[in-house]
Amino acid sequence: MCGIIGYCGHRPAVPLVLEGLKRLEYRGYDSAGLAFLQVSRLEIIRSEGKLSNLEEKVAETANTFAPISIGHTRWATHGLPVEKNAHPHKSNNGSLAIVHNGIIENFQELKDELAAKGYVFYSETDTEVLANLIADELDILLVQAHQKTFAQNSPEYVQNAQNSPLQYLELAEKAFASALKKAHGAYAVVLLSPLIPQHILAARLSAPLLMGIGIGEYFVASDVPAFLPYTRDVIFLDDREYVVISAGGYSVKNLFSAECVQKEVHHIPWDLQGAAKDGYKHFMLKEIMEQPKVLQDCLVGRLQNDSVCLPELDALPVPDSIRIIACGTSYNAGLWSQYYLEQFAKIPVTVEIASEFRYRKPILNKNELILVISQSGETADTLGALRLCREQGYPTVGICNVLGSSVAREASACLYTQAGPEISVASTKAMLSQMVVLLLLALYYGQRKQLSAPYAEILQELKALPGVLEKALPTMREKAKHFAYQYAFARSFFYLGRGTAYALALEGALKLKELSYIHAEGYATGEMKHGPIALIDPEFPSFALAFDDENFGKVRSGILEVKSRQGRVIALLQEGTSLENDDLWYIPQTKLPEFLALPAMQLFSYEMADYLGKDVDQPRNLAKSVTVE
Ligand code: G6P
Repeated sequence: MCGIIGYCGHRPAVPLVLEGLKRLEYRGYDSAGLAFLQVSRLEIIRSEGKLSNLEEKVAETANTFAPISIGHTRWATHGLPVEKNAHPHKSNNGSLAIVHNGIIENFQELKDELAAKGYVFYSETDTEVLANLIADELDILLVQAHQKTFAQNSPEYVQNAQNSPLQYLELAEKAFASALKKAHGAYAVVLLSPLIPQHILAARLSAPLLMGIGIGEYFVASDVPAFLPYTRDVIFLDDREYVVISAGGYSVKNLFSAECVQKEVHHIPWDLQGAAKDGYKHFMLKEIMEQPKVLQDCLVGRLQNDSVCLPELDALPVPDSIRIIACGTSYNAGLWSQYYLEQFAKIPVTVEIASEFRYRKPILNKNELILVISQSGETADTLGALRLCREQGYPTVGICNVLGSSVAREASACLYTQAGPEISVASTKAMLSQMVVLLLLALYYGQRKQLSAPYAEILQELKALPGVLEKALPTMREKAKHFAYQYAFARSFFYLGRGTAYALALEGALKLKELSYIHAEGYATGEMKHGPIALIDPEFPSFALAFDDENFGKVRSGILEVKSRQGRVIALLQEGTSLENDDLWYIPQTKLPEFLALPAMQLFSYEMADYLGKDVDQPRNLAKSVTVE
């Protein structure tokens, strides 16, 4: 969802910004743009659709070596995805341009006030309102500072600024901070102005923004891949902080007090290779295929002599109950873990969709642990739910993949999933890694409660999984292709599962609709006969998960019921079992079949989408990290 990059340094900034935007494409977007300073003139180039359109326009119109630039990929919130709504937006007087991720909730009120002062709006965005608000604050400050009044953006105006750059920088910072104090909602905002031609200002509130530190060059961006070829040294900005960068250095300040804040510099452990396709046709395929390694990495340092070590949680008490809160795929991982947490840790678990939880005045239990799951750690609803619980004094634990993300920093403790960067919008390896951490969590609490359960046996199975999956993946891919071609006719699909397979059925259906735009629903197998079975006919197939566990017999009956209504079924089974069906898909025998069934379903959706010619890595209308409510 909206990608931002800003650069000040010694390289030509425009190609660097374009390249950075490409590495943020995974976030999902529908238009793009950039701004740079050409001999102190503010130039803006924007276009609808894919970045290639912007690149073409830049190639036609801008032959520039400007060393300072800001860029943006927009995921529409206010107004259609057309050029006039694309970022950057400039103020009426042309004194500045901004790019923005987030939503300014009181934008209408601010817009009315500015309109009453004579401001005109050329887009439908809240961002243009913010640009004019900052410019308005700056004008007020300039008048107070007794600056001569020149026609805005005129050579004299810019010249005047260049004659007293420090004063202008101070005033620009003040105007920036004062406007942002008036804006309610969420923002990561980056500003470029010919009045401060050496500097970029950037601030955040509830939207991701970080800073990259190079040698004689500095970056601000929504995510690390944007500047990864140039530096792996990063500062994570906190809410209500702003940063001033130039080619010569940076300072981080508090938006309210303008005081400097000392920040820790983090070194990112992965390089560009981790965020590249590695010869695969799509990021999604690469990320599915690297899951054996993900399984392994996720276990590193967490197992010791048949016991689970999660030192991050040692200081927190064992909870009486757990409330899991998440969105999308992370929610499905949470729902899956309910079975294991209850079975192995004997802790009652409730699983909630974050956007519902936040607004229903929830009553939490005493000694309840709030467990939020988020790959990105920036999902607005999940973060909102976390904050709500934290304000009420509940201990919170985050399960996150992104180092230094908001959830990771704001939760009482964070368990990192260590899956590496996930670029494909549809989440795959992140879910698998969440499942590993959640299973470890169940065993960890069981051990802390000194319960007796076959922990050692489960850990043995878990340790064997990377090898088993690695071996199974090539055949799985072939099977997935085979079934995808056979079932590409379908307009709708049911995914059926029982027990631990139920949450996986939800995820299988989610993946299919996200990628191939085929309508799909996940159902508990036992619920089929309570309504959904009415839809079954030869054109409405099902994908059934029939694991070799105590539910097998019942799932088999469910499948036969579908078949007797002429429904076609792909049945995913474990080796050594069988049932009366034509399309059987065997996965190896293990006590943890979910870790094999998940990649199988991911591959099925992938092959289906690829066969149907869909945009696999960036499905329409979707964003990787949903930073607005
Ligand atoms: C978006 C993504 C999904 C993801 C969900 C939650 O909708 O497209 O793939 O599952 O957000 O994201 P999170 O980062 O909180 O896990």
